[in-house]
Amino acid sequence: MADQFDLVVIGAGPGGYVCAIRAAQLGLKVACVEKRDALGGTCLNVGCIPSKALLHASELYAEANGHLADMGINTKGVSLDLEKMMSFKDDGVDGNTKGVAFLFKKNKIEPVYGAGKILSAGKVEVALNEGGTRVLEAKNIVIATGSDVMPLPGVEIDEDKIVSSTGALDLKEVPKHLLVVGGGVIGLELGSVWSRLGAKVTVVEFLDRIIPGTDDEVAKNFQRILKKQGFEFKLGMKVTGIDKTNKGLKVSVEPAKGGDTQVIEADIALVAIGRRPYTEGLGLEGAGVALDERGRVAIDDHFKTNVDGIYAIGDAIAGPMLAHKAEDEGVAVAEILAGQSGHVNYDTIPGVIYTAPEVATIGKTEEELKNAGVDYRVGKFPFSANGRAKVNMQTDGFVKILADAKTDRVLGVHILGTDAGNMIAEAGIAMEFGASAEDIARTCHAHPTLTEAVKEAALAVDGRALHM
Ligand code: FAD
Ligand code: NAI
Repeated sequence: MADQFDLVVIGAGPGGYVCAIRAAQLGLKVACVEKRDALGGTCLNVGCIPSKALLHASELYAEANGHLADMGINTKGVSLDLEKMMSFKDDGVDGNTKGVAFLFKKNKIEPVYGAGKILSAGKVEVALNEGGTRVLEAKNIVIATGSDVMPLPGVEIDEDKIVSSTGALDLKEVPKHLLVVGGGVIGLELGSVWSRLGAKVTVVEFLDRIIPGTDDEVAKNFQRILKKQGFEFKLGMKVTGIDKTNKGLKVSVEPAKGGDTQVIEADIALVAIGRRPYTEGLGLEGAGVALDERGRVAIDDHFKTNVDGIYAIGDAIAGPMLAHKAEDEGVAVAEILAGQSGHVNYDTIPGVIYTAPEVATIGKTEEELKNAGVDYRVGKFPFSANGRAKVNMQTDGFVKILADAKTDRVLGVHILGTDAGNMIAEAGIAMEFGASAEDIARTCHAHPTLTEAVKEAALAVDGRALHM
């Protein structure tokens, strides 16, 4: 006998579990199928949460070994207990995944642990983790199966010496030399963790720049800061093979455009060249669900696939692979299914890189505006001129605001600096409300805070920054 639900969500990541909660709030009977033994998806188990735990701990370690003495805090004899740091991280993950289990209970959502396969619209078969199968029937199905590591052709990830982000979050000792393939978000965040703990880090990036898609000026300055921290960059280069020897790894690298091969020795290689939608074993072909040209589940403007009653959200569909984007889509689709008008504004999704300093961006980059022929004005303000940043010795970076030249409407905000990830929220609200740079400039910002640099950058759009 099949179980009957209004909604079956497949995948309990930030997209799926948030969708389940919102649907339950709106009165739907919901089950959420998850093949991991813990809820929370990539984000809570092997993504955002463990990486931020290690970024936090490693930053404190680096501070203790670094400039705390400049503030009169003597920290002689600071040492690393990596095993303890890893268990601190694991405890954080555990607390978060259990938090989702609590929320499911509170909202009367049934978690079903096992691999879900769509038999047809309205029917999901689950190969239960505890053994056996169960068929769930539902008025609607939401695919929220997320993404998986993009493989590097010719290189086998063993999660021991050649690792993905998952292995890099669980190394048993600090590598002497960590070679990172891919100068994107994962490479720079996890590269920062291991660099702070003592590894030499070399980043091999295919393009002639890091963090593609980010405002050029921000990326260049960020790279310069990371270099000062000890990162080595090999831009415009690709890894063509990795040999495992008893002494370590021999990584073959050659110019992206072709040329002589160079061999780099390393003890760990982290492959971080992107992620791809995860739809394996989901039965999409049998159910007739179409994918787009890049293997993502194809949807319309309301998250509906080509099959009635089957929807998709999060990393499995197009758009930035970010937890908050997946969450907002989860809420939107739940509201649509409950007869409301759920909606996601893709123009105001922030992106944050949690390094030190952080990089936070929202809206258009300068390059995008140029390419689109938009007439814009730029306001920039460096943290070196912000009182709080100066006294805290956190002067790296700047705030950059791009505003429409005619209307002054804020089109993009890019922040490189300490706490940029929190500061970008102000820009998000401003943009959601269609604010002008003048609106931000005339908003009273508390003193002394780093956010005054946002106000000053807004003033600078009109050439009237006060402290510069
Ligand atoms: P996922 O979180 O991937 O969840 C999908 C779930 O579906 C998984 O648990 C999977 O086991 C399950 N599943 C798949 N197929 C089936 C099936 N057939 N049956 C049952 N269950 C199934 N984003 C941020 O916004 N901020 C960050 O700081 C950040 N840091 C990251 C760090 C790392 C190292 C990584 C790898 C990613 C990070 N991300 C971050 C990205 C973020 O994790 C993803 O964008 C987000 O998890 C996507 O959510 P989702 O719900 O679509 O999918
Ligand atoms: P990414 O897309 O951010 O970066 C991949 C990088 O690898 C790019 O710079 C690309 O040019 C480069 N590359 C591709 N093929 C290559 C090759 N063969 N050799 C050398 N370089 C190559 O992907 P990443 O870092 O793997 O992260 C995956 C996803 O996870 C991202 O889309 C991101 O959204 C998400 N994520 C988000 C975080 C955050 O929000 N703070 C943190 C970590 C991950």
